Amino acid sequence: MRDRHPVTDWATDFDHLDPRWIEDPFPIWDELRRSCPVAHTSRFQGVYFPTRYEDIRQIAYDTEHFSSRRVQVRETPPPVKSPAPPITSDPPHHRAARMVLLPQFTPEAINKLIPTTRMICNDLIDRFIGDETCDAAVDFAQHIPVRVIAGMLGLPPSDGEMFRGWVHGLVEEAILDDATMVRTLSEMTAYLLDHVEQRRRSPADDLISYLAADRIDGAPLTDNHILGTLRLLLIAGIDTTWSGIGACLWHLAKTPADRRRLVAEPALMQTAIEEFLRAYSPVTMARLVAKDTVVGGCPYEKGQMVLLSFPAANRDPAVFPDADKVIIDRKANRHAAFGLGIHRCVGSNLARMELTVAVEEFLKRIPEFHLADSKAVTWSEGAVRGPRKLPLLLG
Ligand code: HEM
Repeated sequence: MRDRHPVTDWATDFDHLDPRWIEDPFPIWDELRRSCPVAHTSRFQGVYFPTRYEDIRQIAYDTEHFSSRRVQVRETPPPVKSPAPPITSDPPHHRAARMVLLPQFTPEAINKLIPTTRMICNDLIDRFIGDETCDAAVDFAQHIPVRVIAGMLGLPPSDGEMFRGWVHGLVEEAILDDATMVRTLSEMTAYLLDHVEQRRRSPADDLISYLAADRIDGAPLTDNHILGTLRLLLIAGIDTTWSGIGACLWHLAKTPADRRRLVAEPALMQTAIEEFLRAYSPVTMARLVAKDTVVGGCPYEKGQMVLLSFPAANRDPAVFPDADKVIIDRKANRHAAFGLGIHRCVGSNLARMELTVAVEEFLKRIPEFHLADSKAVTWSEGAVRGPRKLPLLLG
């Protein structure tokens, strides 16, 4: 990331691209929650950062004052419009756009993908199983969601590298760089439109064909709607889950007691995955303040943005006792990693399945592993947080 003016006061001038925030945001958020629960910065054209669960919940549910028209905090206003329904839709349009997707992501639909996902994980592990080291982010985590979502959409998995490049362009680089945003969007649109047109000519059993044939209120979806939804699925389906899988393995590499316990007691897998989702939630979305309002005693001014940090909500000790401890058999854990309110994640069944299968297969074949060098671990920037380099010593 480019050189940035260093932060001296997180409460009045925070910067979520500051290297200290990227590497370890939790102490910063804890301090803010204690001293100034809603931080503000005039960077990025003005952004609020609430840190309490209750404020974040209220904002997520209040679609009258907080719009999803813009869900990314950027240095400048977006150079082009890029609606991605349903995530960028407000009521009343949101519901229909969301309903289009729901049948494709039910537990039954996702359970059918388990055998393929196990195969993908094992195919990746086969490539480094005999080695002394691997990079769990580069050699493992990043490939799994790309291959799964490519399979669902009916896109060639061999295009995975290109998809990851687009996700990096839109989620990270585009925050500061208009040209990257414009170029990435136009490349994605041309590629996806080509696939939509192919499916119109010869439909297949995949999500692109399904969207191309679907209707809202009796009318076919417009090309813009289909392309926006496909862009959303590619972005939401890839680096979120890649980040989640990486964070699980990072935790297990640096916490041998939890790793050995999970190997010895696989029945804990479900609570452990929920706890990793809570403690290392990958996704922070944004909202545009649509009308002046007050939440939790703090004013929000129309036109400013809000960073809606589900990760910070999940570390609030008012809701989660010992919020900063990772407790793999935590019982009560109604975390907000998948969001709150009408935009709650459509892909949560898929994400949970991929996380569970990836950690299960990794532990089955490599029960002993450690961080090769904790300083060599790097984290992504922007709205989705997860390890991007994660060198491990195996065995
Ligand atoms: C660990 C992985 C994931 C996490 C933590 C996550 C998190 C989230 C969050 C926090 C939201 C709410 C956004 C908001 O309030 O503005 C969301 C929405 C969404 N997610 Fe996920 N997500 C994950 C994986 C996925 C996957 C694999 C897919 C599908 C391929 C997906 C599809 C969506 C969609 C379509 C929405 C928009 C829902 C709406 O606007 O009604 N997500 N996700």
